[in-house]
Amino acid sequence: MIIVQELKKRFNDLDVLKGISLSIDKGSTAVIIGPSGSGKTTLLRCLNLLETPDKGSLIIGEKRLEFDKKKKLKLNEMMAIRKKTGMVFQNYNLFPHLTVLENIMEGQLIVLKRSRAESRQKALGLLEKVGLKDRGDMYPHQLSGGQQQRVGIARAMAMDPEVILFDEPTSALDPELVGEVLKVMKNLSKEGMTMVVVTHEMKFAHDVADQVIFMDQGIVVENGTPEEVFNQSNNQRLLQFLNKVNVR
Ligand SMILES: Nc1ncnc2c1ncn2[C@@H]1O[C@H](COP(=O)(O)OP(=O)(O)O)[C@@H](O)[C@H]1O
Ligand SMILES: [Mg+2]
Repeated sequence: MIIVQELKKRFNDLDVLKGISLSIDKGSTAVIIGPSGSGKTTLLRCLNLLETPDKGSLIIGEKRLEFDKKKKLKLNEMMAIRKKTGMVFQNYNLFPHLTVLENIMEGQLIVLKRSRAESRQKALGLLEKVGLKDRGDMYPHQLSGGQQQRVGIARAMAMDPEVILFDEPTSALDPELVGEVLKVMKNLSKEGMTMVVVTHEMKFAHDVADQVIFMDQGIVVENGTPEEVFNQSNNQRLLQFLNKVNVR
């Protein structure tokens, strides 16, 4: 469903992604872990082309793109991939001047050209799903961080993406609000949404992930089931990282 081959990205003289290859099955949840600066965010941003990779290829569903620094991507090719991927950001990135409902309708209206009635209907259904049925007319600043992030998830889902990318969705939250967001994500995972989640929540990774990917310094160091990565690996860099985040 998602196949990444030899993906490379360099910023100035820094090789941030040094040839990433991985594949993620349709309907599965992949969790990416790794130290700060290892390239996790850059990889997610490359998956929905917020960054253009320098080299390598990306397959999402039926779409395949080859990257080459010398060739510019065509806008319609980029849009085709973007439409397939939803993104949930660490800091929610909701529009402050729009209500919760309008936030969830915006992309549907502008990108998908859905009618107002249809967009609103979809938004209401999703709000109910993330447990915020009666908050549609509020503004983001009137909600807690956990509620805002659940709106962020509803907004991503509103576009009917083939995959949702989560970049540390709970790391800006007060500890007592983390659980409500993870619960929504866990339900999505159970329903068969394809998800790629960068997180430091090791329990979530352990319980929910089908696949755990450990990145360090721009490469995939380990990739396997939670059992393989958390309990069976002898890779020193991984063990060091897990020690720091206190799971072994
Ligand atoms: N737009 C950018 N320009 C220059 N350097 C960047 C840019 N984005 C990320 N980097 C650098 O790339 C490296 C990896 O960053 P990032 O992908 O954010 O890692 P992570 O999410 O794992 O913490 C870091 O050294 C970071 O400073
Ligand atoms: Mg990051």
